[in-house]
Amino acid sequence: MGTVTITNHPLIQHKLSILRDKNTGSKEFRTLISEIAMLECYEATRDLPLKEIEVETPVAVAKAHDIAGKKLAIVPILRAGLGMVDGIHALIPSAKVGHIGMYRDHETLQPHSYYCKMPQDIEERDVIVLDPMLATGGSAIDAISQIKEFKPKSIKFMGIIAAPEGLEALQKAHPDVDIYCAGLDDHLNENGYIVPGLGDAGDRIFGTI
Ligand code: PRP
Ligand code: URA
Repeated sequence: MGTVTITNHPLIQHKLSILRDKNTGSKEFRTLISEIAMLECYEATRDLPLKEIEVETPVAVAKAHDIAGKKLAIVPILRAGLGMVDGIHALIPSAKVGHIGMYRDHETLQPHSYYCKMPQDIEERDVIVLDPMLATGGSAIDAISQIKEFKPKSIKFMGIIAAPEGLEALQKAHPDVDIYCAGLDDHLNENGYIVPGLGDAGDRIFGTI
């Protein structure tokens, strides 16, 4: 079974509180989404293998380490996942980007897929799927099923807020996927929104409320 990490770092928790606040505007909301993604990325890449190298400092030769040729791809689920891309790129500028377009039907809460484009060399890459909200889990489950058809080396999921229902469903559907989130909330309401959550992530990022 994949691991579930709810990052409880004080910086993440502080930023998450501001993100949730209904009075936080789009500009600050985008900055916070990106910063939280960057901090979570630190945790999600903890297992990257290192190789020992030698580096000449101005004083002597130092035994040092660099990342052992591991190639990453990030795949935001449109729209809201786009908000997390800059934060990851700040730490891993070489990560290639695939895109999956999904929207939830407001009545049925079922995800509908409208776009999918992956990097050509995805088979050589470890993938991190990005979507701030894991509500019923339907969008993440479908997106990961689509990505698996491209046979990447591994897949992780990085969200910001999860509902227990979505977390359970994602673990059940894709037990091989490690999951990283900043907060685990109480439940989903009758409209499929995470409670207390932060509202509609895509609308708050892009100002379409
Ligand atoms: C939101 C969110 C997830 C999905 C989560 O997207 O960004 O993709 O809902 O819900 P689920 O776990 O129940 O599938 P939405 O469908 O609102 O599209 P948007 O990002 O374009 O606003
Ligand atoms: N999608 C969102 O953007 N917010 C929720 O609370 C649930 C799904």
